[in-house]
Amino acid sequence: MAQREQWGSRAGFVLAAVGSAIGLGNIWRFPYMAYENGGGAFIIPYIFALLTAGIPFMIMEFGLGHKYRGSAPKVFRSIGSKWEFLGWMQVLVAFAISIYYVAVIGWTINYTGFAFNQSWGADPKGFFFGEYLGLTGSPFELGGIRWPILGACTLAWGITWLAITSGVRKGIERACKVLIPLLFVLVLILIVRVVNLPGAMTGLDYLFTPDFSRLADFSVWADAYGQIFFSLSIGFAIMLAYSSYLPKKSDINNNAAITVFINCGFSMLSGVMIFAVLGNMAEATGQNVADVAGAGVGLAFVTIPAAINTMPAPAFVGTLFFLCLTMAGVSSHISIVEAVSSSFIDKFAWSRKKTASIVCAAGFALTLVFTTGGGLLILDIVDHFINNLCILGVALVEIILMSYIVGLDDIQKHVNATSDFTVGNAWKLCLKLVTVAILGYSFVMNIYTDM
Ligand code: PHE
Ligand code: NA
Repeated sequence: MAQREQWGSRAGFVLAAVGSAIGLGNIWRFPYMAYENGGGAFIIPYIFALLTAGIPFMIMEFGLGHKYRGSAPKVFRSIGSKWEFLGWMQVLVAFAISIYYVAVIGWTINYTGFAFNQSWGADPKGFFFGEYLGLTGSPFELGGIRWPILGACTLAWGITWLAITSGVRKGIERACKVLIPLLFVLVLILIVRVVNLPGAMTGLDYLFTPDFSRLADFSVWADAYGQIFFSLSIGFAIMLAYSSYLPKKSDINNNAAITVFINCGFSMLSGVMIFAVLGNMAEATGQNVADVAGAGVGLAFVTIPAAINTMPAPAFVGTLFFLCLTMAGVSSHISIVEAVSSSFIDKFAWSRKKTASIVCAAGFALTLVFTTGGGLLILDIVDHFINNLCILGVALVEIILMSYIVGLDDIQKHVNATSDFTVGNAWKLCLKLVTVAILGYSFVMNIYTDM
């Protein structure tokens, strides 16, 4: 059998893993999550979640991919043939995400263009939901394809296809080596620009002023864990696939810690960027920061355009902002689709080109639904279901399998063998108790609130 592809360098691997982790979630979810959950005080549960779940889980996944040299189904098949299905469940979740995540990337691509002359006009909300999305009244009413969205989604799928067919090193690694450093530079430029705007400091006060009383609320802690899992792309096939391309001698534990810390640093930068912008907008419009703070689609495509309208040099900030979202999104999309493709390559020994073409074509066909006037409504439903149940569910099965059925001893030996710093009982306890408890709690709570 041909030798498994490998990353060209350690930095290349870390940048690819960071590229997967840093995504729309860092920019539009983290700042609001922090603000809502005690501001500066949120740092405490966040860092706690990062140390007790984020890094330990990442070490485990990097270790699994590296040890069994395969994508999720292959990893779990190697552990025991009856577990292969868990791998495929994870792949299914990843594939589902790839289909609608790309729709949002399509919007950010379109908005990068709109930002040049603020085509959204004086009413960004009306523009986004009306003229642009052509939102219908119900998810059962599609209302026809929106051509600019279809065009942008085609482009996004095309970029992903190109990166994956070009190979691990020549495609994925190369793309992330450009995208991720550039993303950091652009965000820093944006920050320098926006923190000097009037009102920016008020915005940052809102974000960072700690409200320690919130820490008594258990849901704040659950939110911190939820954010860490989604943000790090752990628990559903992605990091397994990426770490399966690591050379034999690789420092697993250090790579995991570095990946997690870079992702966390980027989230903090995004928080500063977003809240400086919100502060400036509040000042310009005579509102309160609390009234304009928000997350998700509303933040990115309604609030930010409105904020850009009131800024000096709107084209500059606007274009850069949406370009950053696009780059963060594309590097994550590549990782989701790679997780799916590599699973089929491992299983059926198809060529990379054939596999990526089939996966991307199927994904693209399904994305069509999200380019219609009913797209956002369907996206909301699917995203809610995937985030609240599917991701938690497959991650939970994985962690229970590893800590209670298979046991963590083998993987512990494996990751410690090549790593600078070793993990011991604390690592096991974090996975067996803390991570299982919090994931389990969140999963049960979500089922409960959804019914
Ligand atoms: N980690 C990414 C983010 O924070 C999200 C993501 C989801 C990435 C699914 C890959 C796969 O936006
Ligand atoms: Na990314």
